[in-house]
Amino acid sequence: MLVTLIRRYSKPYMPYIFAVIAFQLASTIAALYLPSLNAQIIDEGVSRGDIDFIWRTGGIMLVVAFIQVGTAIAGVYFGSKAAMAVGRDLRRGVFRKVTSFSAKDVNTFGAPTLITRGTNDVQQVQMLVLMGLNFMVSTPIMCIGGIIMALREDINLSWLVWVSVPVLIVVVGYLVVRLMPLFRSMQKKIDRINEVLREQIIGIRVVRAFVREPYETERFGEANKELTDVSLKIGALFVLMFPAIGMILHLSTAAVLWFGGQRVDSGDMQVGALTAFLQYLLQILVAVMMGTFMAMMIPRASVCADRIGEVLDVEPSIHDPAHPETPAALEGVVEYRNVTFAYPGAEAPVLSNISFTARPGETLAIIGSTGAGKSSLLSLLPRLYDVAEGEVLLDGVSVSKMDRAEITRRVALVPQRPYLFSGTIEHNLRFGKTEATEEELWEALHVAQGEGFVREKKNGLASRIAQGGTNVSGGQRQRLCIARALVTKPKVYLFDDSFSALDVATDARLRAALKRTTADATVIIVAQRISTITDADQILVLDNGRIVDRGTHDELLETSPTYQEIVESQLSVEEVA
Ligand code: UTP
Ligand code: MG
Repeated sequence: MLVTLIRRYSKPYMPYIFAVIAFQLASTIAALYLPSLNAQIIDEGVSRGDIDFIWRTGGIMLVVAFIQVGTAIAGVYFGSKAAMAVGRDLRRGVFRKVTSFSAKDVNTFGAPTLITRGTNDVQQVQMLVLMGLNFMVSTPIMCIGGIIMALREDINLSWLVWVSVPVLIVVVGYLVVRLMPLFRSMQKKIDRINEVLREQIIGIRVVRAFVREPYETERFGEANKELTDVSLKIGALFVLMFPAIGMILHLSTAAVLWFGGQRVDSGDMQVGALTAFLQYLLQILVAVMMGTFMAMMIPRASVCADRIGEVLDVEPSIHDPAHPETPAALEGVVEYRNVTFAYPGAEAPVLSNISFTARPGETLAIIGSTGAGKSSLLSLLPRLYDVAEGEVLLDGVSVSKMDRAEITRRVALVPQRPYLFSGTIEHNLRFGKTEATEEELWEALHVAQGEGFVREKKNGLASRIAQGGTNVSGGQRQRLCIARALVTKPKVYLFDDSFSALDVATDARLRAALKRTTADATVIIVAQRISTITDADQILVLDNGRIVDRGTHDELLETSPTYQEIVESQLSVEEVA
């Protein structure tokens, strides 16, 4: 997955990558050339006292050094550019994919992991690409070239290379193998911290209300301690890593000087060759070290790539049809025909055999105990979920055959859990219709009984809304969500328990105002309060996913025992209150 992902996403940046390769090649060759120039200065210049030669070769060294630095910088520049671009594209890919998900697809993953996959996991892959581009070319050339150059300086000392390089590989490799599982478990612990923290922040009011702070603090403390333990273990290994590497480098230096010194003494080797050999050996060891570090990143990045791939490979369970049909009429006739629906993974259907028709100008109300399936029923019309059997028709065409954009043009849903986005009130109201005029916004607010509190705000429409709409009251949030639906002027309104947070007086005023604006639209209301729906043209009584009775308020009072029960329960509650 890692290879496929990187190959697919780095394709547009091939020119950059070729530039990286070219620059690194130049930089590495220059770096390899420097020690041998240095050796020449010592052996031919210093030892013979040839000042002229020292100046000339020194000049060349300076030029080569500049070339080396310049090309190295250019290489890193293009490498970073390519890696960051790959990261950006990957993030965009994940984001686009997730936005195409249906509610079901999001549920199968869970929101937190989707967030991690789109951010942290992409980061890991991007990091590997960056490191890969920076060391991919230079490391092998440095190793092989360094060995060749070192052997050219003195073949008799070559055994030092064959000893020190494997020792370094074994030591660093051992540490890396020990570190890897720790890194992996660290990733999980970080996930855990995020999870606990997220839950506590979102549920802060509940935590306060039930005085659960000590318990929650302990829960967080546990997760925190686990992360600390893993980090400490990693730290302990890292403490070993650098001295170990340092020791190998210094021992190698000492060995080169010791054995090389003897050869210089006996006249078999020149001093310059010895320094050059030493520099080559160090270059090789550093390259090997870098290579090992990179190898360490691969497993982690490949885990991340798999996780990203899982998201990218999902075929959204609900997508627009290849050849969408558009209904000839734009009226808003809603018809459910023998609809059965089950949530993915659930055994029993939550809705069975639902049939009804709602026409423009009519109000259809749905009532039933909690868990009866009212919200599920509404979610089928805008295709948040697809039916298992039967058909949902909008203006005579099955919604599964329509473009979802076409459906949203006709249908506006006010969800049971009103959700607002961070931004301004205006930005939220325009959510379904960006080109709405300010007048239209105020009109919608007026109908939704939200005009008053928005006008009272210092900034009016420009007032800030916090993420999720947590800085307005529940009732205000509901009214803003209603206004948001009204702005789009749809043919069909779906209100899922949208008046529950309003007091009875506001509820009545809102419904009266709604009645005027939605006069030619189809209105489907899910309600808990009988008083909300007494004047509906048709009331469906839902119980356990089935329509048990239907009719007007007066008819149902006569004929439906379930309806009577609901009425009675509410009467007694109201009497008590
Ligand atoms: P609904 O959410 O449709 O019930 O869930 P409702 O009638 O609107 O209930 P209230 O009045 O808002 O409380 C119906 C059943 O569907 C299942 C639940 O078990 C519930 O009993 N369900 C709901 C799921 O399995 N998954 C979901 O995402 C939602
Ligand atoms: Mg509901």
